[in-house]
Amino acid sequence: MRELSLHILDIVQNSIEAGASEVILEINEDPDSDLFEMIIRDNGRGMTPEMVQGVTDPFVTTRTTRKVGLGIPLFHSAAEQAGGDLVVDSEVGKGTTIRANFSHKHIDRAPLGDMVGTILALLGSNPRMELVYRHRYKDKEFEFRTEDIRETLEDIEISHPMILGWIRNHLQDGLAEIYGGERE
Ligand SMILES: Nc1ncnc2c1ncn2[C@@H]1O[C@H](COP(=O)(O)OP(=O)(O)OP(=O)(O)O)[C@@H](O)[C@H]1O
Ligand SMILES: [Mg+2]
Repeated sequence: MRELSLHILDIVQNSIEAGASEVILEINEDPDSDLFEMIIRDNGRGMTPEMVQGVTDPFVTTRTTRKVGLGIPLFHSAAEQAGGDLVVDSEVGKGTTIRANFSHKHIDRAPLGDMVGTILALLGSNPRMELVYRHRYKDKEFEFRTEDIRETLEDIEISHPMILGWIRNHLQDGLAEIYGGERE
């Protein structure tokens, strides 16, 4: 079973390829109401209604090297296997939103995996992207915005090891705070 955070890497990669400068990643978890939801929103070039319709089908892709696009179909089946669904909402020239929901307690719901490592990997390879990462667990919320630290950085890249090191600690502390010692 593939960790769900790995799907995030794939889906955000699509956003980058679609020319997005901003990505908003939202995770909402509430075991008590069996909620586990992941939303990835971008301001990339978007898709036509026909593309949206076909995008969960593995034979739709604009890739030229390989005929089959797998990013969205794999995420889709991960959601379906765990009692959930995936919905793509997109508009040409505006952007795309992918919303996947799962049954939190479902035996086939893959673990979320390493969110700190995932965010660091995204920032390391896309230092100019504005990222918002909002994670809710029960009634607690953590939010990280690259915009907030960018002014302080002046001309240092966000991908500088020292900056990524600081972000790592910040994310670890933030997630520890919302989970409050509970692990999924
Ligand atoms: N965020 C997005 N914005 C615009 N177009 C998108 C976005 N995400 C996906 N698409 C379109 O949908 C197609 C299918 O995406 P999917 O991730 O399933 O496969 P892929 O990216 O083509 O290949 P793979 O992910 O397997 O490397 C993409 O080729 C692209 O044309
Ligand atoms: Mg892809």
